[in-house]
Amino acid sequence: MAKQHNNTHSWMTTMLKKRWALMLLAFFSLSTVTIVFIRANTNSDPCINITNSPTHNNNNYKPHESVIRSSVGPSPLDFMKSKLVLMVSHELSLSGGPLLLMELAFLLRGVGSDVVWITNQKPSEPDAVVYSLESKMLDRGVQVLPAKGEKVIDTALKADLVILNTAVAGKWLDAVLPKDKLPLVLPKVLWWIHEMRGHYFKVEYVKHLPFVAGAMIDSHTTAEYWKNRTKERLGIKMPDTYVVHLGNSKELMEVAEDSVAKRVLREHVRESLGVRNDDLLFAIINSVSRGKGQDLFLRSFHESLQRIQEKKLQLPSLHAVVVGSDFNKQTKFETELRQFVVDKKIQDRVHFVNKTLAVAPYLASIDVLVQNSQARGECFGRITIEAMAFRLPVLGTAAGGTMEIVVNGTTGLLHPVGKEGVTTLANNIVKLASHVEKRFTMGRKGYERVKEMFLEHHMAHRIALVLKDVLRKASHD
Ligand SMILES: *[C@@H]1O[C@H](CO)[C@@H](O)[C@H](O)[C@H]1NC(C)=O
Ligand SMILES: *[C@@H]1O[C@H](CO)[C@@H](O)[C@H](O)[C@H]1NC(C)=O
Ligand SMILES: *[C@@H]1O[C@H](CO)[C@@H](O)[C@H](O)[C@H]1NC(C)=O
Ligand SMILES: *[C@@H]1O[C@H](CO)[C@@H](O)[C@H](O)[C@H]1NC(C)=O
Repeated sequence: MAKQHNNTHSWMTTMLKKRWALMLLAFFSLSTVTIVFIRANTNSDPCINITNSPTHNNNNYKPHESVIRSSVGPSPLDFMKSKLVLMVSHELSLSGGPLLLMELAFLLRGVGSDVVWITNQKPSEPDAVVYSLESKMLDRGVQVLPAKGEKVIDTALKADLVILNTAVAGKWLDAVLPKDKLPLVLPKVLWWIHEMRGHYFKVEYVKHLPFVAGAMIDSHTTAEYWKNRTKERLGIKMPDTYVVHLGNSKELMEVAEDSVAKRVLREHVRESLGVRNDDLLFAIINSVSRGKGQDLFLRSFHESLQRIQEKKLQLPSLHAVVVGSDFNKQTKFETELRQFVVDKKIQDRVHFVNKTLAVAPYLASIDVLVQNSQARGECFGRITIEAMAFRLPVLGTAAGGTMEIVVNGTTGLLHPVGKEGVTTLANNIVKLASHVEKRFTMGRKGYERVKEMFLEHHMAHRIALVLKDVLRKASHD
């Protein structure tokens, strides 16, 4: 045992040079702010499939830092060189929306665009997260401006392209741009929308939507929903709409494809949870809230344990890991979850893990990802493609973006949303627990699907098609 530990230790030392080692550090670090570039997952869930694009595969393309440092091979975004892009973020936080926009900012910096960033709503107090994210942007040559004032109006007028991020960012248009200038800016606006909740369909947010060059939405389901709701609820028409699925970052893929890194992370996480190497871990990785369905997942999990006992199946111990809890907030929902676990006496089988940006260590440690988002489901569900990169099968709700990612029966199994889904999910848990071969095959097929369509270069390629279209339209107006 001690020997094992030493080994692990020397492994770690050797690997500190490697980038993924950051994730390990992050995992044990209290300061989440320093690890921003390990993607956030637990919060709002941004999504991105440009429908009309070939999913292929411009392999010379090396986005992110590598591009910034030296220019390697052509990028599908090369035509954006020296274009002026204004990005309007509704806020600056570690949630999915702003981080995704930042990723795009860095991709554009990588090909030599001039990128100006503004944040519409900032906390009035100095804020560590805002400070850290802005520093990161400045380091990468993104210019950060105040959301209001001459300078930003001037930039909006000069820009080749303005990207509004999320529906809420629409408020900035009226708040900042003079009325007579608005018609000059709207034709070059690309509006990136990641949300699918009723309260976003407000005229005050989206009244200019019909007049912008285009809307970019993360899944077909979400795009359909927007089309329908804007028409029925608000009586407005969507502009040209592009569906763009997200891709996995290169950093995440690096860890996912590094078997040594994965093994180290797995050992450490399992040790910290107090589970054995051959125990089976089913994890749900989302911020804890009713919409994400942790309550129904735990019910399914409990049902699966009962089933295993009734049938006297000889299986390794099953564990449920709930990553995304926020114990400080002590929400009623979380209290309910914890009470359920106590009532059913499954404390030794259920593990709550605090909200974290570093999801890779967990993905490296578990056996199955559960995506249990309720109602209309996830807009896209980036954690789903991240888990598939780690060769994990996915047990997901048959709703929203999940249905565009998971191939039922091939890369995972789908169950219905709501209480009707509890027993199906329980059966699916038992199924994957009892059929090792099936689990591995599904994981491998999921990984292949990611390689085929959910990588950063796929996303960059699809976004490039959208940006080209928008630039063409803007210059015609
Ligand atoms: C992307 O859109 C195309 C065209 O509608 C569709 O055939 C394809 O399945 C979509 N991709 C995914 C991952 O759903
Ligand atoms: C549009 O929404 C209405 C009401 O929510 C619903 O009845 C209808 O089926 C939806 N249409 C489509 C095409 O989704
Ligand atoms: C989770 O967060 C709570 C509250 O901040 C803290 O007391 C607890 O130690 C954290 N748990 C872990 C495992 O870090
Ligand atoms: C998923 O596949 C299973 C069989 O493998 C089937 O019973 C189930 O109805 C399918 N669910 C959906 C939503 O397609």
